[in-house]
Amino acid sequence: MLGRSAGRLAGVVALVTGGASGIGRAVSGRLAREGARVAVADRDMSGAAATAKGLPRNCPPDHGAFQVDVADPKSVAGMVRGVQEHFGVPPVSWCPVPGSPATGCSWRWESGNSGKCWG
Ligand SMILES: NC(=O)c1ccc[n+]([C@@H]2O[C@H](COP(=O)([O-])OP(=O)(O)OC[C@H]3O[C@@H](n4cnc5c(N)ncnc54)[C@H](O)[C@@H]3O)[C@@H](O)[C@H]2O)c1
Repeated sequence: MLGRSAGRLAGVVALVTGGASGIGRAVSGRLAREGARVAVADRDMSGAAATAKGLPRNCPPDHGAFQVDVADPKSVAGMVRGVQEHFGVPPVSWCPVPGSPATGCSWRWESGNSGKCWG
């Protein structure tokens, strides 16, 4: 039997902006099925929470929902801090919302680690 975190993305924390619906929700599901823990970020917090709740469980700390307006650098910075606090490691990210995040798809985490971005 496969372990809870088996999969090509076991051990990866994936940040998905626009994760409350549409492409972002679908991408979140795919990443979780591949073993990633997913930070579902969106302007729509209740939608993000619904996405996170519906994902297959992986290793704790499990998926989380985070509110963000990707057009607002302060909001993006707060979301990034929240994600880091929740998971304890920097994520790679998938950004279906155009132009997101506002700081660009490459950033330096407060811990000094660099983020990576697809999408
Ligand atoms: N290039 C293509 O072929 C192609 C195809 C389909 C969709 N798209 C584009 O991809 C994007 C996603 O499409 P979708 O169908 O998943 O749309 P959607 O409306 O279902 O999802 C977009 C999500 O982004 C969130 N969002 C919007 N603005 C935000 C902001 N400022 N901060 C945080 N979250 C924000 C919304 O709350 C929503 O949950 C759209 O912009 C769409 O136009 C491109």
